[in-house]
Amino acid sequence: MSEVFKHAKLGNIELSNRLVVAPMSRISAEHEGEPTELMEDYYRRFAEGGFDLIIGEGVYVDRKASQAYQYQPGLTDDEQQAAWKKVVGGVHQAGSAMICQLMHSGAQMQYNRFCEHPMGLSDVVPKGKPLSIYGNLEDWVKPEPMDDGHINQIMNGFVGAAKRAKAAGFDGIELQGADGYLLNQFLSTHFNTRKDQWGGNLEGRLRFLIMITRAVRDACGEDYVIGMRLSQITPTDDDYQWPEGEDGLRYVLEHLRDAGLSYVHTHDVAVNRKSLKDSDKSIAEVASEVEGLQLIINGGVSENNIEDIAAQYQDALISMGRKALVHQDLPKRLKEGLDIYELDPTMLEPKATIQHELNWRKINL
Ligand SMILES: Cc1cc2nc3c(=O)[nH]c(=O)nc-3n(C[C@H](O)[C@H](O)[C@H](O)COP(=O)(O)O)c2cc1C
Repeated sequence: MSEVFKHAKLGNIELSNRLVVAPMSRISAEHEGEPTELMEDYYRRFAEGGFDLIIGEGVYVDRKASQAYQYQPGLTDDEQQAAWKKVVGGVHQAGSAMICQLMHSGAQMQYNRFCEHPMGLSDVVPKGKPLSIYGNLEDWVKPEPMDDGHINQIMNGFVGAAKRAKAAGFDGIELQGADGYLLNQFLSTHFNTRKDQWGGNLEGRLRFLIMITRAVRDACGEDYVIGMRLSQITPTDDDYQWPEGEDGLRYVLEHLRDAGLSYVHTHDVAVNRKSLKDSDKSIAEVASEVEGLQLIINGGVSENNIEDIAAQYQDALISMGRKALVHQDLPKRLKEGLDIYELDPTMLEPKATIQHELNWRKINL
């Protein structure tokens, strides 16, 4: 594991290894969106387990249409900010850094306590069915298409939440531009059927992502770590492809870098899946070729392939989701060659809450 356990940096964050906890929604906040003590303990356990960098779960950014799930944490008021400060404080005390993932549900909304209908770029719903581990919604609700006023408000929400994240002590922010949430919907021709300045060709579909990157960079300062997660896949669609393929992705990444992005966090079913249209490269490979933009790679990394992946992507950090959920001390286990198990889905069923996980551990371990 010599490639994995070597010194690394993300912006100005110093790391003793290249392992990162991937963002994972645990719908365990208060109804009003404040993180709880259970969440404080949960995040601290990753730090104590040897993860030097944790990317927190997707946090909603405004008191309008951004919340996606009941019991999702937010970062929209002083109470939520103060509660996050405790979570981050615990992680810092254990010697690790934490990034806050900022997200807006757009059409992919399962519950929102501020508004009845999802707001989307068009009236298109996500493919498949809502995720039962996050709530009880049976079918997607048709979103109301946003006008320019709504889109401007969304910008304010992200900027406000980014400032709060910095004030709460987070070491950086990650804009959730992947997995079918609103920023991802802008790029997707499935969701974005607009004919105005926010839609159409790639330039139009990328416009808002560039504007928001610039705006949070201006708000948070030159040295703050600002990343964006990107994927073609969504939780209910592994097959979507951006029409512009490899060249389009390169165009997206170069423009986001120029707008002030520190890193991109790629997500696919597997890091090396060649999923781009008419290309023999993976998303991660294309991203690794873009100069001046740091890279975090995600998707299907395990104890069996991590050494090869770490050697292939020498400069990248590697984020892990499910394996980290099973073993919050995964870095220690990898280092010492201890047993590592697959995620048993019943740990997250019927709901993906931390309390359910703890009950599951008592019975099963
Ligand atoms: C329970 C659960 C919740 C997740 N929530 C989020 C989230 O809030 N934001 C996000 O970007 N990805 C989320 N993901 C996706 C993970 O970050 C990761 O991309 C996925 O698990 C694939 O990586 P893995 O193969 O290492 O598990 C979630 C995954 C799981 C299992």
